[in-house]
Amino acid sequence: MRIPLALIDKYNVPVPRYTSYPPANFFTDDFTTADYLQAVKESNHTQPENISIYLHIPFCTQLCLYCGCNTHITKDQDMMKTYVEALKKEIHMLGKLIDKNRKISQIHWGGGTPNVLPSSYIGEIMELFTSNYQFIDKPEIAIECNPAHLDEAYINDLASFGFTRISLGVQDFQEKVLNAVHREVPEIPIADLVGMIRKHPGVSVNLDFIYGLPYQTAASFAETMEKAAAINPDRLVTFSYAHVPWVKKAQQKLESYGLPEPEEKVKMFEVAWAKMTGAGYVPIGLDHYAKPDDDMTIALKNRSLHRNFQGYCTRETTGQVYAFGVTGISQLENVYAQNARTVKEYIDSINAGEIQVVKGYALSETDKIIRQIINEVMCNQYLSWKQVASQFNLEVDGLKALLNFEESKLDEFVKDDLLSYTTEEIVITDLGRFVLRNIAAVFDIRLEGSIQKFSKSV
Ligand SMILES: C[S@@+](CC[C@H](N)C(=O)[O-])C[C@H]1O[C@@H](n2cnc3c(N)ncnc32)[C@H](O)[C@@H]1O
Ligand code: SF4
Repeated sequence: MRIPLALIDKYNVPVPRYTSYPPANFFTDDFTTADYLQAVKESNHTQPENISIYLHIPFCTQLCLYCGCNTHITKDQDMMKTYVEALKKEIHMLGKLIDKNRKISQIHWGGGTPNVLPSSYIGEIMELFTSNYQFIDKPEIAIECNPAHLDEAYINDLASFGFTRISLGVQDFQEKVLNAVHREVPEIPIADLVGMIRKHPGVSVNLDFIYGLPYQTAASFAETMEKAAAINPDRLVTFSYAHVPWVKKAQQKLESYGLPEPEEKVKMFEVAWAKMTGAGYVPIGLDHYAKPDDDMTIALKNRSLHRNFQGYCTRETTGQVYAFGVTGISQLENVYAQNARTVKEYIDSINAGEIQVVKGYALSETDKIIRQIINEVMCNQYLSWKQVASQFNLEVDGLKALLNFEESKLDEFVKDDLLSYTTEEIVITDLGRFVLRNIAAVFDIRLEGSIQKFSKSV
């Protein structure tokens, strides 16, 4: 796939990433803990019925300068122990409100770096879920790991706790890049770590990469992708580096090395696409690649792919997300709610017997409709107006009127070969995947007149 340079100039504007709709920037602090707890009780009677658990472990031993995640840099083992104890209490507190006839379909450990914790802590928390909840047939139990903190014993422990996917944050194989961004270089090569995971047949492997960092070029990223494909992961993600120095001050330092120009970044996207599809992987959305027989690929073919803050999921594994830990965001059918901002505030409030929600959002019916449309665009590259309208008991014309939608709003995209449409459906082309966020923004009536700041789409 070739992306014309003129397209980049035209579409490289700030737009939300749409990992949720409305985006987290729209959450407000008048949404309270009481609102959240009420919504949790109500969630037992709304769809999807499944339970998806997100556990946030904020700790990292060193700050990578590009990092956009919610982290707490420390090596303090006592703090980690106290945090894990608070996490267990929060799981007990919220668990009392969740109907245990419902089943867990997903558990996702994110961060920060969950694997800076002693593995026994992870085992203790997993035990809380396995002994108190029912699970669907093939649940997804995933963990994000920094390879610099992994070894075989740790991997074996994760497998014994029931993990079905281990995700390694590789970012780049070049030490020059890792050093520039102040990231620890793993002592055990990634290929060897993957070999250790492969000894456990039920555990699949995901590798994360970022493009757009200092010293990366299209040629170097092509080599990185070749090396990655040779390791044969089940899934691979190529994140476009999101530069938001007004939120993440440490990112400013990367500007002194010089960041690749948007044109070079686009070439990196192109070479990743070429190398990964050449190696037999199927592109999913903008930045994911999976094997043809992966559940995610099958869901894309069936147009039943979903997404939450933790990434893509299938219709089977989709659940309402209950988040635990500092800054964790719950994504229920009717509300979003974000936990306490700092580790200290989180631990103090849990120890005082209170879950602290600092901000959130209650979705209106219109928000839910837009969320569904944006989900279809971002995940399935396809929209059937009739399908969405019937889901919300509307007529197609009424649905379009509600969104101030006129087909002519898509004409520029058609001219640029990014999508095709009829009055009944919209089909996004391969090239159109590059501007999925821009296409999604057409349906986002909140964006008009918004003063929020977003990263650029390229
Ligand atoms: C929580 S981290 C993964 C686990 C572990 N902390 C690590 O770094 O290996 C989640 C992923 O987010 C991606 N990421 C972090 N900051 C980013 C940014 N500013 N832009 C794009 N991707 C980013 C990285 O690829 C990273 O692997
Ligand atoms: S990229 Fe991962 S290891 Fe680095 S600071 Fe962010 S969360 Fe921590």
